[in-house]
Amino acid sequence: MPGTRQLQINSLQLKNPLILAPLAGYTDLPFRLLCRQFGAALCYTEMISCHGLVYDKKKTLQMTQTVPEDRPVVLQLFGADPEKMGEAAEIVSDMAVDIIDINMGCPVKKVVKKGAGAALMNDPGLAAAIIRQVCKKTSLPVTIKIRTGWNHDAIVAPEFAKMAEDNGTSGIAVHGRTWTQGFGGTVDWQTITRVKNSVSIPVIGNGDITTYQEAHTFLEKSGCDGVMIGRGALGNPWVFTPGGTPATLAERMMGLRQHLQLIQKHSDPDKILAKTKNHAGRYFKGIPGGSSMRRKIYAVSTFAALMELAQSI
Ligand SMILES: Cc1cc2nc3c(=O)[nH]c(=O)nc-3n(C[C@H](O)[C@H](O)[C@H](O)COP(=O)(O)O)c2cc1C
Repeated sequence: MPGTRQLQINSLQLKNPLILAPLAGYTDLPFRLLCRQFGAALCYTEMISCHGLVYDKKKTLQMTQTVPEDRPVVLQLFGADPEKMGEAAEIVSDMAVDIIDINMGCPVKKVVKKGAGAALMNDPGLAAAIIRQVCKKTSLPVTIKIRTGWNHDAIVAPEFAKMAEDNGTSGIAVHGRTWTQGFGGTVDWQTITRVKNSVSIPVIGNGDITTYQEAHTFLEKSGCDGVMIGRGALGNPWVFTPGGTPATLAERMMGLRQHLQLIQKHSDPDKILAKTKNHAGRYFKGIPGGSSMRRKIYAVSTFAALMELAQSI
């Protein structure tokens, strides 16, 4: 029966194996709360700079915003300096979060150039030092999120995962692509399965899951303990529900209204209007009347007008 698999990270028992991935620019507090209302058992924040936290940067602190309903939550850190990552972990330990994750998969040049994100998969010594320092500075479970490797000639994820387990990691999420693949090409579920077989801590598979059924098929096929969904959840929180994505504009609008209400409650909606419109347009992909609705969404210039539009159907 789908959904009965038990995913436990240290003492944290999750209600199901479906997890919202970290998505910079998207997985803020309102979107995480929405995905939880639709069934996501665990949600990640966007990646958060260790330097931004240590130096008290306002924008970084805003990204740590959470509320009691936003649990269990994983706060994802990125950085390449073990000392700073440790200091950031100490700061995060005083926040209401459940897990600290270390980003070891981000392919963005700006991040990789500094030795962080996916670059750490090329430097297991530094990655180990970061994991040890973060574990030393927090009593929260520490997880990592990796890719399969740097390129097709360097599929190192299984050995890397073992190294991470040996250094104190409590769980591993694997995006089944290499750094060179970026977000294209096929997802390598075989390597994800090899990672699962190389460690005894929970392994979460990730990449290109767009439906609830697919999530459960991949869970069975890979033997993973959990499945992480990123882009497939954008404009589609129904990916976390057995019934799946509704086919009518009116039903999709109900989802958008729920999202807008959370944005209104937990943020400054007019300040983030562009981001909200980006989210909103995604609800109407692939349905009759969808492109006309997207045009109307992109044309609004206030949050109130967007809310009014969402209430008109
Ligand atoms: C816009 C965008 C932002 C992302 N931001 C992050 C991030 O902050 N941290 C991270 O570990 N991965 C990040 N990722 C990668 C996703 O978490 C995920 O691994 C990847 O998109 C594959 O899963 P999906 O096909 O379900 O989206 C991002 C991906 C996208 C498309």
